[in-house]
Amino acid sequence: MIPKLYFSFTINDFVGEFKSHPRDFNSAHGEIENFFNGSQPLFVRKARIGIRMVLHAMGLKAGAAVGVQPFTCSSVLSAIKRAGFRIVFIDMDRNLRMSHEDLKNKSNAIDALIVTHIFGFPDDVETIRSIFGNKPIIEDCAQAFLSAYQSKPLGLSADAGIFSTGFGKLFGIGYGGFVVTGNDTISANLLKQAEQLQFPSKAAILWQSVKNFGLGMLYRPLIYSLLTFPVKKRFGRSNASIQEYPFRETKMPLAGISRIARNFTKNQQRLQRQRANGKLLIKLVDQRFHPIEPLNGSEPNYFVFPLQSENRDNIVSFLASKGIEAGKFFGNSILWVHAFGYQPGDCPGFEHIASTLFTLPCHDYLSENQMNYIAETLNKYHVA
Ligand SMILES: Cc1ncc(COP(=O)(O)O)c(C=O)c1O
Repeated sequence: MIPKLYFSFTINDFVGEFKSHPRDFNSAHGEIENFFNGSQPLFVRKARIGIRMVLHAMGLKAGAAVGVQPFTCSSVLSAIKRAGFRIVFIDMDRNLRMSHEDLKNKSNAIDALIVTHIFGFPDDVETIRSIFGNKPIIEDCAQAFLSAYQSKPLGLSADAGIFSTGFGKLFGIGYGGFVVTGNDTISANLLKQAEQLQFPSKAAILWQSVKNFGLGMLYRPLIYSLLTFPVKKRFGRSNASIQEYPFRETKMPLAGISRIARNFTKNQQRLQRQRANGKLLIKLVDQRFHPIEPLNGSEPNYFVFPLQSENRDNIVSFLASKGIEAGKFFGNSILWVHAFGYQPGDCPGFEHIASTLFTLPCHDYLSENQMNYIAETLNKYHVA
């Protein structure tokens, strides 16, 4: 079975967590600061915590309205709620980017905006800013680490960019994330908020590492085929439940920061392979599955390879029968958003995407032969 994602937490990562040294903190800062043209990162345990913190750091008035696309992780919506703000849903176009039309219509009623670079495909923040005006914008780069637009890493075009390294993200190197901002006021406020957070207990850190290690083992190719996938298929809980905001916010421990530092250079090498796989799929997959058209000048990370079809559910089952695990990413988002005030028909583009989208694996552990197999198999699919 070719897994839809890869989770690469290894024994070295596990041992490394216990060997972390305060100097790793500086090296993680240095590497990320360099990559983001001098913007200092603030590490967070989860991207959702970063979203809540940035929303507070932007000085919005109580009960302000935050615009966001509905096709996103429910944890983002939980973070906006936890921050005490209202959610206004903005529709999307068929290339999974924010609908300019819908933004124009709703812009006056929104005080801040979250632009989601979904599946690592860059959206055009400059054009969005020209519509939205001078109000604060956050780039949600949770899935877009190492993607770039016009030769600039994503996360630097708005007031703040938020990244995640957790399970189910690019390379999934273990819980964590960071915020980058070039805005001094936001940065000072974030540092103030961070000072008030406490580190998780040693037992909580150890438990997290053990869980990561366990997941890493379950994603080893052979174990995945023989055990993980069959068990998931038989007993897997449906992801209809909403990802909640943590009951208690804690600081990112040094062990996690040092893991990000250790993986940083390696990740950039892995990215080359991942991008090559994504580009190969663009060439090979039939147009009838509607591959999205990335913006000119964008360099997606190809976290996963999204496609759309009215026969999505049948295609996913067909691919599974051929040993390929396709994903129905955010397939339950229609259910989630209702809990956050969404009314049917608010965003028709989103509703279509949520019921037709599926993703092909293209992670860097897959060989060119496997990519060819995935594309050839999909192209053989015909409606009965
Ligand atoms: C687009 C998007 N934003 C934010 C998040 C939240 O990331 P984290 O799990 O690190 O809080 C996710 C998680 O899946 C996501 O997919």
